[in-house]
Amino acid sequence: MNAPVLPEVVPLIPTVSPLAADYRVVDEICLDELAAGLTGSGWVSRDFRGLQTDELLAGLQSEVSVLHHNNAMKMAGIGRGAGAARDPSIRRDRIAWLQGETPTQARLFRCLEQIREGLNQRLFLGLRRFECHYATYEPGAFYRKHIDSFRGRASRVVSLVLYLNDDWLAADGGALQIFSRANSNEICGTVLPTLGRVVLFMSEEIPHEVLTVRRTRHSLACWFRQDEVPIPL
Ligand code: OGA
Ligand code: MN
Repeated sequence: MNAPVLPEVVPLIPTVSPLAADYRVVDEICLDELAAGLTGSGWVSRDFRGLQTDELLAGLQSEVSVLHHNNAMKMAGIGRGAGAARDPSIRRDRIAWLQGETPTQARLFRCLEQIREGLNQRLFLGLRRFECHYATYEPGAFYRKHIDSFRGRASRVVSLVLYLNDDWLAADGGALQIFSRANSNEICGTVLPTLGRVVLFMSEEIPHEVLTVRRTRHSLACWFRQDEVPIPL
C-alpha cells in the first residue's frame, strides 16, 4: 500500500530574531542623533523606553538590586593603577563590574556594541572596546565634579550612563549636572536618573557631577575606549 501523500509543510520562519529585536533599540536615526550631540555640545541624552527595551531594563534593574542587597557592590575608587585611591570626599558610590555573562548582560553588550560601531562609523573615533559597571548611590552619596579621562591618554573616549530608577523626582536629588566644555563653570544640562534614560558625553571634555541623592539611585556606566588593554592613569 502506498503511503498517503502529505501536504507540503511550510515551515514557519520567525520574522523577528532576538538579534533583530535588539537592533531596533539603537536604530540608525538614533545613532545619528547620538553622534550629532557628541560633535555639537559634546553631550546628549535620550530616553530608551518601549517594547524593545523594557524587558532589558527590567533585567538590569533586577541584577543591580540583587547585587546591592547581597552586598556585592564595592566602594568605588578614583583613578587607576598606582594612582588608584578611595576618596569619600569626592565619590561615595558602590560599583560592580559587568562581564557580559548573564543573558541580560549579553543583550546589553550587543546594544553597546551597536553604539560603539555606530559612533565609529559616524565620528571615526576608533573606539575598540567598552567596559561597564553598575553603580549604586545610597542616600547622602554623591560624585563631585570630575571628568572621566585625562586628555591625551587615549583611554576613555565616550562615556555612557544608563539610569535604572522607577519614577525619579527632582526632589529625590541625584541629578547629573553637565558643565559646558567651553566654560567648565557653566551648567549646560541637568539629567534626572529616570529608568531608560541614557546620557552620552565626551569623556575627556565634559565635567559633570552627581548631586547628593536622597533615595537609593541605581545606574550603569559604560566607557568606550581606544586602547586594547587599560593604560594605567
Ligand atoms: C561616573 C559618573 C554619572 C551618573 O560614574 O563617572 O559620572 O550620573 N556617573 O551616574
Ligand atoms: Mn563620571
